[in-house]
Amino acid sequence: MPVLSAIAERFARQRPLQGLRIGACLHVTTETANLMLALAAGGAEVWLCASNPLSTQDDVAAHLALDHRMHVFAVKGEDNARYYRHIEAVVAAGPHLTMDDGCDLVTILTTKAPQAAASVLGGTEETTTGVIRLRSMERDGLLRFPIIAVNDALTKHLFDNRYGTGQSTLDGIIRATNVLLAGKTIVVAGYGWCGRGIAQRARGMGAHVIVTEIDPVKALEAVMDGYQVMPMEEAAARGDIFITVTGNTGVLREEHFAVMKSGAIVANSGHFNVEIDLPALARLAEGDVMRPREFVEQYRLGDGRTINVLGEGRLINLAAAEGHPAAVMDMSFANQALALEHLATHRGALPPGVHPVPQAIDAEVARLKLAAMGVRIDRLTLEQERYLSSWSEGT
Ligand code: ADE
Repeated sequence: MPVLSAIAERFARQRPLQGLRIGACLHVTTETANLMLALAAGGAEVWLCASNPLSTQDDVAAHLALDHRMHVFAVKGEDNARYYRHIEAVVAAGPHLTMDDGCDLVTILTTKAPQAAASVLGGTEETTTGVIRLRSMERDGLLRFPIIAVNDALTKHLFDNRYGTGQSTLDGIIRATNVLLAGKTIVVAGYGWCGRGIAQRARGMGAHVIVTEIDPVKALEAVMDGYQVMPMEEAAARGDIFITVTGNTGVLREEHFAVMKSGAIVANSGHFNVEIDLPALARLAEGDVMRPREFVEQYRLGDGRTINVLGEGRLINLAAAEGHPAAVMDMSFANQALALEHLATHRGALPPGVHPVPQAIDAEVARLKLAAMGVRIDRLTLEQERYLSSWSEGT
């Protein structure tokens, strides 16, 4: 993670986070560990909990706690009660800055610990779902401090969501099942940046890709990108593998399970485990559920068909694989580190609400990443600069 490393080296010299306590609710992975070390190098005291019950890499959590004396609350496979106890432990520490991946930390701070929320200077949000939740909180007048929507930086979602989720989702499905993708029909529900990445990579692996969408513009884009587009009620009978990545609830439901092929594989790569209606599937299977492999639950329906659910419907790229590779998290977490520095140096200047990542940070991350990759680009000539800033030259 060369961009994050360069930032960490500068942080170690300049200590922009000196004296600040950071409460972070993130997937506890090796990449997150690098981010936590960069923040500590900048002078921060770090309190970290998981942002998903299945995404923690236990060796990483132990390493940060034992070797770096950080406060870490995360264990892979924790149940919901323990997941929330861990968030509450971070809240109880009284963070000055928050980092969220899905907005659970800010939700608990706001609803259960308004006094702790009152002393937060600001926070960041990593993911699309979290930004959507934050905008709803803002609309309802509940947001008490400024939050920078890291997800919306170009150097985040154009790369992390598209290439990171695209690759790691297929990686998770393959690690969980060892299925051959070539020749299969893969149904991708949702054509946001994550869905685009998954569809593109699935096609590259030789799959026939069907996209389902509710947004006419995104659906049209999928058609012109060369995919078949149809409602899930039609796609359900055709797919061999289904991947939900909409950020919404109840995307695969009883009426879809009712017509799926026997042996269908169903996985989710959206933030929460609500996209696949597992209670409906459990009702249809009447308790006939086997675990043929780790991360695979095989539901046998009354008519003898089986449906294989991966990773309990949780983010399959983090449950069964290792999440996005470091090369792409480098940019996401560089944005995170620089956004926190921005909040620390502009404390009191930003009003409560959702804020964009400053453009200068986005551009700096791109410049540093290109430099790390050894890629040089052109500069505008003086004549070109003049041309772009004038209106007088036409046909
Ligand atoms: N989100 C997706 N992949 C991740 C990773 N490797 N580390 C932290 N958060 C992630």
